[in-house]
Amino acid sequence: MKHLHFNEIDSTNTYLKQEYQNLDNLTFVTASFQSSGHGRNSRVWNANKEENVLLSYLIKDKDIIEHFSYVSMFSAVVIVKYLESKGLENVSIKWPNDVYVNGKKIAGILLEGAYPNYLIVGIGLNLNQTDFNNKELRHPATSLKLEKSDFNSNPLNESQEIISLFNHLWCDFKGDWLMYDDFIKEHNYLLKKRIKLIDGSRIIIGIVEDIDSQCNLLINIDKEIVKIDSGEIVEIL
Ligand code: BTN
Repeated sequence: MKHLHFNEIDSTNTYLKQEYQNLDNLTFVTASFQSSGHGRNSRVWNANKEENVLLSYLIKDKDIIEHFSYVSMFSAVVIVKYLESKGLENVSIKWPNDVYVNGKKIAGILLEGAYPNYLIVGIGLNLNQTDFNNKELRHPATSLKLEKSDFNSNPLNESQEIISLFNHLWCDFKGDWLMYDDFIKEHNYLLKKRIKLIDGSRIIIGIVEDIDSQCNLLINIDKEIVKIDSGEIVEIL
């Protein structure tokens, strides 16, 4: 496992996309600042300089790339476990790949890939930032510092801690895709919530019943359980 750190970069995801041929499987890249950080659905990912974790890792193993839904959930599990180890409560996974604390978004995960060449997992985790433009954000944001005022550490140290935790958990996980099944179900932020979801041109409204062992969201729509494998939750009703 290799870790590269940049003081400033356009985007850690973009860097891996450009350099994947020269880099090993499971290379981690972090940055103190991104000038072109991006999120899902081509949104901008803004993060104050030197205040947050901006981390991406590269997967080149074809068998693992095929299991990208598990890799995405696993990444959320690592962030949840990390936050719980810092003493935070009410940490949950908002399907498909956000991490929430007390109903606010603390981390977002972006997967980008080109099968069978690479899969890149980018994680933006709010650490010390306390000013968020919640009027402009689609969902209210929080950070470790806002949730725990005595938190005192820098993003590089915390990134290293997350990478160590990742490696520790990865060794077990890569042989057993279902090993965090129960953990994911127990940390399902959307459980029993009535949601509006957009999947391509489809708009779905229903109550979330579960996340199944293939990482699909199970939604009860007029007493019928519908399996959703991708999409965006636009509203919690
Ligand atoms: C989202 O919630 O939309 C996902 C946000 C992902 C942001 C991270 S920060 C590190 C990596 N580099 C990027 O440009 N994006 C991801």
